[in-house]
Amino acid sequence: MSPEAHETPVEAHRPTTETEAPNLDFAGTTPYEDYVQADVLTHLQHLRSDDPGEMVFLVTTQVMELWFTVIVHEWETAAKALRRDDIPVAVAALKRSIRELEALNHSWKPLAGLTPAQFNSYRGALGEGSGFQSAMYRRMEFLLGDKSASMLVPHRGAPRVHAELEKALHEPSLYDEVLRLLHRRGYAIPAAVLERDLSKKYEPSPEVEAVWTELYSGDESSDLARLGETLTDVAELIWRWRNDHLVATRRAMGAKTGTGGSAGVAWLEKRASKNVFPELWTARSHV
Ligand code: HEM
Repeated sequence: MSPEAHETPVEAHRPTTETEAPNLDFAGTTPYEDYVQADVLTHLQHLRSDDPGEMVFLVTTQVMELWFTVIVHEWETAAKALRRDDIPVAVAALKRSIRELEALNHSWKPLAGLTPAQFNSYRGALGEGSGFQSAMYRRMEFLLGDKSASMLVPHRGAPRVHAELEKALHEPSLYDEVLRLLHRRGYAIPAAVLERDLSKKYEPSPEVEAVWTELYSGDESSDLARLGETLTDVAELIWRWRNDHLVATRRAMGAKTGTGGSAGVAWLEKRASKNVFPELWTARSHV
């Protein structure tokens, strides 16, 4: 019996284009490979131990680096849009970043239950390597207003990374662009904030807090109040990343010192308690 004999009348009359199998024949590498570079991406896993659990540790770290890269791209898009008063484009980029931050945070799952014995199986192979040396994470922090020139020091030996970080250090952060926009819209952002040294960490200001209080006390559906809420979502998800990292670290190594030389959990606790976009949180007490 021919295969066609099994076909129902509907299947027999499907247009041929729908039943055709995908192309198998390419002169060179596949168009998928040319775009995605999956062959490069899936051969970047240079393991340093024989422990079978090291693979997921390395790949989770690489996956997070890719998400950091996407999120930096979104926040830079948002900052540029705010500079030209284009709030819809800025909010669209920030909303994309919220979904991406959620995906980033879900990628803690494979490492969330790491035991000290499991982590010890490859910890030695990491040497002094630590996420503290992640330049893309630092770019994220700089965009949030958490600037620090000393965070460039570990990257002195990597010219491209160092140059990108140095540029980001001196550029207005995403939050600086928000405050400049509020000023252009007539809100009383103090000159000291607008003219601040951009390479320094943003310090909270009572006047900025008063502006957010005013915005939150008014029409909640206004474009600026909605921008504030979108930024608050971003801040919350960063806080969640830091806390998930803290808990995973506490489970995997207790109070031991970190591979990067810090006090470990005690140091991370301090970092995780920092508020992103501080006045967006403190203003809530006055609304
Ligand atoms: C469960 C496994 C992990 C443990 C035990 C751990 C441990 C630590 C420790 C102790 C620090 C403080 C610096 C040091 O002394 O090393 C640190 C910092 C850091 N780690 Fe992890 N980490 C883990 C997984 C990850 C992953 C998967 C990433 C993703 C890239 C990551 C990113 C970071 C970043 C960005 C910092 C710097 C945080 C800051 O500057 O506030 N870590 N980690």
